[in-house]
Amino acid sequence: MQSKLPAATANVAARTRAVRKSIWPARLDWIQSASGLVLALFMWVHMFFVSSILLGKDAMWWVARAFEGTFIFGRPLPWLVSLMVAGILTLLIVHAMLALRKFPGNYLQYRAIRDHVKDMKHGDTTLWWWQVVTGFALFFLASVHLYIMMTRPETIGPYGSADRMWSEHFWPLYLVLLFAVEIHGGIGLYRLAVKWGWFDGADPNATRKKLKTLKWALTAFFLALGLATLVAYVKIGIEHAPRAGEPYVPAAEQSAPAK
Ligand code: HEM
Repeated sequence: MQSKLPAATANVAARTRAVRKSIWPARLDWIQSASGLVLALFMWVHMFFVSSILLGKDAMWWVARAFEGTFIFGRPLPWLVSLMVAGILTLLIVHAMLALRKFPGNYLQYRAIRDHVKDMKHGDTTLWWWQVVTGFALFFLASVHLYIMMTRPETIGPYGSADRMWSEHFWPLYLVLLFAVEIHGGIGLYRLAVKWGWFDGADPNATRKKLKTLKWALTAFFLALGLATLVAYVKIGIEHAPRAGEPYVPAAEQSAPAK
């Protein structure tokens, strides 16, 4: 009787050849880079909007209502925010799904990359490992945040957000999320610039050094801004705890105190 092995082996070889010729791995890499770039740039913009609380409660209230289209449609439409969050969530899922290809898939692969990182002591390899670790944490941390933002958009505001941080105990999640996202995004942008040679001049090594300095400076800036913002919300949350759940009324709409 003829063995089935040669035919099976031939099949595997044919499939391997077909996979090798496919343009899809390159396409998937491009989609992963593009989705990562959009998410990282979104996070910068996001941090500026969220930190509007540092300018005062009215400023943050104005930003939150602006995203609901209040000043265009004459009334707040929170579902506009839900729609935007759904878009970001979809992008995050696509990005995470593609990133899974790069994760160690079993213990042997995990040991190999850990030993490699330890033996090489190469800065960029170590950064890659931290990107994997923080990316894994983001699967869970970012999902919780986005789900709340998508389903409770009307609660976003100086008191609603501060109550969530303090009275609803979200500040520990936000603290870890802040470090994970800033480290992950910073490394991601740096690696994108190096990978696609965006700023390569006559001396790519000198460019890489400058990029790394810029990367750490940006990470430090956004961590400082994020921590100051977190503290501001927590302080408001503590003060507002006895009236948690009550929405903020902007100064212009507050009635004058009774004489
Ligand atoms: C990848 C997606 C996202 C990540 C990783 C992320 C991360 C964070 C982090 C770390 C904080 C805490 C800020 C601080 O510590 O100073 C925060 C707060 C906040 N984020 Fe996001 N965010 C994401 C998407 C969004 C989206 C799409 C919205 C749109 C509504 C949003 C709205 C807010 C608001 C309003 C706060 C203030 C606290 C609250 O109301 O719960 N975020 N986010």
